[in-house]
Amino acid sequence: MFHNIPKPILEQMAALEEQDAKDRIDGTPMHKRLRQIPPETGQLLALLAASAPSGLCIELGTSAGYSGLWLSLAMALRGGKLVTFELLPEKAEMARKTFKKAKVENLVELVHGDARGHIAMYDEIAFCFMDTEKEMYTDLYDAVVPRLLPGGLLLADNLLSHADSLADFLTHVRADARMDSVVVPIGSGVLLGRKRATP
Ligand SMILES: C[S@@+](CC[C@H](N)C(=O)[O-])C[C@H]1O[C@@H](n2cnc3c(N)ncnc32)[C@H](O)[C@@H]1O
Repeated sequence: MFHNIPKPILEQMAALEEQDAKDRIDGTPMHKRLRQIPPETGQLLALLAASAPSGLCIELGTSAGYSGLWLSLAMALRGGKLVTFELLPEKAEMARKTFKKAKVENLVELVHGDARGHIAMYDEIAFCFMDTEKEMYTDLYDAVVPRLLPGGLLLADNLLSHADSLADFLTHVRADARMDSVVVPIGSGVLLGRKRATP
């Protein structure tokens, strides 16, 4: 349960939940579907982002901004802005409208572009949520982890729903002595990793 969610945020969450549910049954092509996390995963993200060390919070894969809305709740609690990356122009435009209508533009910076070309510009990452195409996860993880602060959190979605295609990624993470990690069976299965102070 997440208390005191402002009404404009709740309204945008409800509209996106309705659209996402429709997308999943009406034959909308994959690249047009919102493919967003379920509310329980959003609550987990918000709680963990609010509890992460001070530093930068980033999201890789915005879609229409649903997970970004949950993360905006954490930003209101911890201060600072979420930086969220979206590759597709039509999704970035939808997210821009979502954040405007939800009145969270002061809490979220939307970057339209390929996250892989931007991560090197950021340092002192305290929290990262990864939710792009699954074949990019290992490259994104390898780019993010050196920039994570000690105690910084990295979450990745779909570890259970895409267990086969993410098997090599999971092996890669589990072999990484810099990170402690667990797969949390919530929603589509979330990898939760925490960077160790010393490997
Ligand atoms: C599963 S959806 C994200 C859902 C979103 N996190 C939510 O829960 O509301 C994946 C999104 O990642 C975007 N994407 C894929 N590859 C990307 C990349 N390299 N950089 C930025 N965004 C990317 C896709 O266009 C798509 O909108």
